[in-house]
Amino acid sequence: MITLNSTLINVAYLVASVLFILGLKGLTHPRTAVRGNLYGALAMLIAVIATLVDQQIVGFQIIFAGLLIGSVIGVLLAAKIEMTAMPQLVAAFNGFGGGASVLVAGAALMESQLVNTSPHHTFTVSTGVSGLIGAVTFFGSLIAFAKLQELISGNPLLFPGQQVINLLLGLICIGALGWIIIEPETMQPYWVLVAAASLLGILIVIPIGGADMPVVIALLNSFSGLAAAATGFVLQNNILIIAGSLVGASGLILTQIMCKAMNRSLGNVLVGGVGGPVADGAGDEIYDGKVKSTSADEVAMLFDTARRVVVVPGYGMAVAQAQHAVRDMANLLEARGVEVDYAIHPVAGRMPGHMNVLLAEAEVPYDQLKEMDHVNPTFEQTDVVLVIGANDVVNPLARVDDNGPIAGMPILDVDKARTVVIIKRSLSPGFAGIANPLFAADNALMYFGSAKEAILDLVTAIKDA
Ligand code: TAP
Repeated sequence: MITLNSTLINVAYLVASVLFILGLKGLTHPRTAVRGNLYGALAMLIAVIATLVDQQIVGFQIIFAGLLIGSVIGVLLAAKIEMTAMPQLVAAFNGFGGGASVLVAGAALMESQLVNTSPHHTFTVSTGVSGLIGAVTFFGSLIAFAKLQELISGNPLLFPGQQVINLLLGLICIGALGWIIIEPETMQPYWVLVAAASLLGILIVIPIGGADMPVVIALLNSFSGLAAAATGFVLQNNILIIAGSLVGASGLILTQIMCKAMNRSLGNVLVGGVGGPVADGAGDEIYDGKVKSTSADEVAMLFDTARRVVVVPGYGMAVAQAQHAVRDMANLLEARGVEVDYAIHPVAGRMPGHMNVLLAEAEVPYDQLKEMDHVNPTFEQTDVVLVIGANDVVNPLARVDDNGPIAGMPILDVDKARTVVIIKRSLSPGFAGIANPLFAADNALMYFGSAKEAILDLVTAIKDA
């Protein structure tokens, strides 16, 4: 058994805390994200080892055996998981964090009863908070995982009286929390609280549409951090309080950024039921007789005279896994002296940074990825915009439609370019389920097809041009 004095343990915790913060800072930019991730992992390693040694839980052999088993599971998961399945993996991780908080807080309460001490209010309150948030996170994340993995329907599940039931469950949780504080010598109130919070977690997530899940996952991520911070108070462990608070705060900031980029309130995401099935024939009157379709050869001819081309990737590019073909096409254009940039909308695709990750995977240089605010003023000087599987994020209705699901959402102003070519398979709507007048605009050409094949045909046509 190894023993270290408390000063050394606190120094280790301090180093880990600084590394966590540097890690988060690194994750704010694609260029520094890998380093940020490494800092975070190193911080976690230091924190875990310091805690195990401090609590005299295990010796070195067991620490290394645990590290080995954990690393093998982590490497296998990371290598096996598809990029598009990342949101559900994060959901599962959040859920495990919440579940662990419930178990650890419950075990600490049992232990305090066994040693027969009368616990301080800080202990009982944080035990209750940990059980409450942890159970909501665990069951909420399970539902989010099941929706994204298509184990259950991704459609919003709404039923009458849902909000009243949620309110009642919330009141039961608060009541049980009070009961834990008054009677910490029995486990009953804790289990009542966990049962009500578990049901609440399920009911909070089932009315949310599958495509809104990334926002919910960011929120549940924040909850898992808060549950961990509360558990830190239960165990009087500083690093758990610090790391939990960092996760809680960053998850909340990410939730806020995503809601703002969609111009929706968190309330609307949680109870709005957006993302249900789309009615057939939506937009027929907008498109009737006005849609012009084009071909790979025609687009190649447009590129021939273009000086600046902006690529706008969206969900369809992710589904078709067309990013490598897109990079090859851009290389060809650049070799012919065309300036190529990529316009990145903050909620393009289905998860934060979705397009950045895909384009980084295809080794597109970071400095060609332009954020919405930077690229929007340049569209008027752009010869051709190539929209690849994006729809809502380029829908001009967002500027005029006061009541629609994307009303007020900031969009990429691609309609201001000289010519817009849109690659998608049909005129079907995107996530928001509404028609897009861009497809019928005078300067728009529809290049129908699945993104990868369409781009590969385009590459051949550019080479032949
Ligand atoms: P969407 O508006 O969802 O449109 C995607 C389009 O891709 C569809 O219209 C579809 O048309 C096309 N598509 C699908 N498969 C394709 C394929 N194989 N090849 C070519 N095209 C294909 O996507 P977007 O513009 O990226 O907008 C994202 C939406 O998701 C926004 O409404 C946003 O608010 C929402 N959302 C995003 C996030 C995050 S964090 N990114 C989180 C929650 C919600 P066809 O079927 O005709 O091909």
